[in-house]
Amino acid sequence: MKKVIILNGSPRKNWNTYKMCESFANGVKDSGAEAEIINLYDVDFKGCRSCFACKLKDGKNFGRCAYPDGLTPILDKISQADGVVLASPIYFGDITGVTRSLIERLFFPFFEYKEGYPSVAPKRLKTAVIYTMNVNENLANEIYSDLFKKVEGFMETAFTKPVRICAFDTYQFSDYDKYVCEVFDKYHKIKQREEQFPKDLEKAYKAGLNMV
Ligand SMILES: Cc1cc2nc3c(=O)[nH]c(=O)nc-3n(C[C@H](O)[C@H](O)[C@H](O)COP(=O)(O)O)c2cc1C
Repeated sequence: MKKVIILNGSPRKNWNTYKMCESFANGVKDSGAEAEIINLYDVDFKGCRSCFACKLKDGKNFGRCAYPDGLTPILDKISQADGVVLASPIYFGDITGVTRSLIERLFFPFFEYKEGYPSVAPKRLKTAVIYTMNVNENLANEIYSDLFKKVEGFMETAFTKPVRICAFDTYQFSDYDKYVCEVFDKYHKIKQREEQFPKDLEKAYKAGLNMV
């Protein structure tokens, strides 16, 4: 059976990013494939240590991350999968720190230090990215398009061009009245959660359905 690994780079389980992952996973399952969500915040790992074992001439770990920690079994799972999904909220105009650390460990070993940085990934996995964020779609396209291009460029070089699914203008708190929050309108956010977010989940579901 085909398998898709979905990497949730949000610390919150059962919130926006996780729910997008879950909906994507449901799509994958309904297409007859297997899906597994991995919460990166539960995994004990750090970014690349720059050991360069993955670039050593005739090295036994050439093209793979040899650093042993909580990410090792996950990198193995990804290498055997048919699809991989990177999901992250936007934090300070970027993907979250753990998602970034994952990218270093997952992609760096694949990029050969040769003209054009060709990928030595053993398989051309199907890919998707999921981003969730506070800003609306227009602002996101203005200020985050370089970020999206960069992240998706790494995925395309390593595996294949990813499908992008976004949830913009997300609902952030369990109850806006409990928090100091003058810059976001509570009623607008409730409307987003009730009217727009279900549509975003549906997009994630369809992307999951079509992945493998
Ligand atoms: C530390 C932190 C930084 C954030 N920075 C941004 C940002 O730069 N741009 C943005 O649009 N949203 C930002 N947000 C909002 C989150 O991206 C947004 O609420 C997201 O949907 C949260 O995902 P979650 O519900 O899975 O936790 C930030 C949230 C936190 C906690």
